[in-house]
Amino acid sequence: SRIWAKIYRNLHAILLVSIFVVTLAILQRAFFRSQPLFPEKNSEDSHKSSKQVFIPRQKSFWIENINKSVTEDKVVKAWDVIDVHCSANSSLTRMPWFAELGANIQKFLLYQHCRFFPMLFNHPEKCEGDVYLLLVVKSMILQHRRREAIRKTWGQEREVRGKKVRLVFLLGVTIQGEEHPHHQKLLEYEDRLYGDILQWDFEECFYNLTLKEVNFLKWFSIYCPSVPFIFKGDDDIFVHTGNIIEFLESSGGMLDLFVGALLSTSLPIREKNSKYFIPPEIFNGTFYPPYVSGGGFLMAGPLAMKMHIASENMDLFPIDDVFLGMCLKVLHVSPKPHSGIKTWGVQEPGKEKMISRDPCFFQNLLVVHKLTPGELILMWKLVTSDLICTRKTQRL
Ligand SMILES: *[C@@H]1O[C@H](CO)[C@@H](O)[C@H](O)[C@H]1NC(C)=O
Ligand SMILES: *[C@@H]1O[C@H](CO)[C@@H](O)[C@H](O)[C@H]1NC(C)=O
Ligand SMILES: *[C@@H]1O[C@H](CO)[C@@H](O)[C@H](O)[C@H]1NC(C)=O
Ligand SMILES: *[C@@H]1O[C@H](CO)[C@@H](O)[C@H](O)[C@H]1NC(C)=O
Repeated sequence: SRIWAKIYRNLHAILLVSIFVVTLAILQRAFFRSQPLFPEKNSEDSHKSSKQVFIPRQKSFWIENINKSVTEDKVVKAWDVIDVHCSANSSLTRMPWFAELGANIQKFLLYQHCRFFPMLFNHPEKCEGDVYLLLVVKSMILQHRRREAIRKTWGQEREVRGKKVRLVFLLGVTIQGEEHPHHQKLLEYEDRLYGDILQWDFEECFYNLTLKEVNFLKWFSIYCPSVPFIFKGDDDIFVHTGNIIEFLESSGGMLDLFVGALLSTSLPIREKNSKYFIPPEIFNGTFYPPYVSGGGFLMAGPLAMKMHIASENMDLFPIDDVFLGMCLKVLHVSPKPHSGIKTWGVQEPGKEKMISRDPCFFQNLLVVHKLTPGELILMWKLVTSDLICTRKTQRL
């Protein structure tokens, strides 16, 4: 009975402590809830401007998704897309203008509403630790030689100028009949060796490149929220990782950094036979918003997360780099040019040769495009050797 008396005497203390703990928990929750992930004003702004600038169709689709996306993002801690909910939008086939489009763009429109796909390979651990720069490379299953060359050269996971660099490849699924299971098996082996493959269960094709963008932006928002910078590019480019880090350091940690080979007044192509043909039903503006070549560009991590949210409220656009320009426009961010990023075609054959042979030229650049894996490995060796250049071709 003495023990019981003791417990009774202390009961009020126990009660007090538990009330305190519960109140603290409630307060903490309320505090987190009241902090919007994305300021209200911004989402209103982006709504307005996107209505003005593009997406004439499907206005209601856009509005319906505003609340959904924001609440969804608050809780997502891991990739949460398990099934493919993707059936063709058959109501389009009744539209008179639809019948006149080419087969590829028809296919794009039929599946335009399918956005997020299950992951076949994921690496949630990729951004653990103090990663400064995430190198993100669009690749395809069969391009393993290019991936191999990148891993050996500019994509090495290491510290550059004391900053941690990590690498991922973005892949879809190549539907190529009987051989496909073998290729997929090889990819699995490759991923087990290097742990750098992110693969989504959508078909790999030109018009689906935008799916790579939106699925990557979502992935990044979930797994890499504290990574300050992203370099994103193709798998046939040369990247001077050291120069990139030097440039990023000098940029003073801009949260809205978006830098590449800029196109500020580019026109939609209306010729039906072009790879880039866009009918007015998809985009009826005169100019695309300013955008940079998807061949290689830099963006700040916090901006990528804002772009993820903005993009969820926009119709997918078949050209991936233009789509990112549209997201930037919605966010009122201007992409910036950089003369050291050479990703637009160097068309003249003579000039291209000269570029690919002169390591001094490469040493002063950030990104150069169109190199075979062999050229890349050779150029990397030359650039990282004790190269003596008589004159600096260009200053960063
Ligand atoms: C684009 O579409 C909108 C809405 O459908 C229409 O009001 C506008 O006049 C069109 N603009 C052009 C340049 O065709
Ligand atoms: C979004 O949520 C707010 C508040 O919960 C509500 O007032 C608004 O009507 C909703 N918007 C849409 C488009 O459902
Ligand atoms: C299907 O296409 C029609 C016509 O363009 C459009 O109004 C509708 O929103 C689309 N449905 C989906 C799920 O995207
Ligand atoms: C994009 O991928 C989806 C899912 O695999 C597929 O249904 C669709 O046809 C693809 N889009 C194009 C334009 O091929």
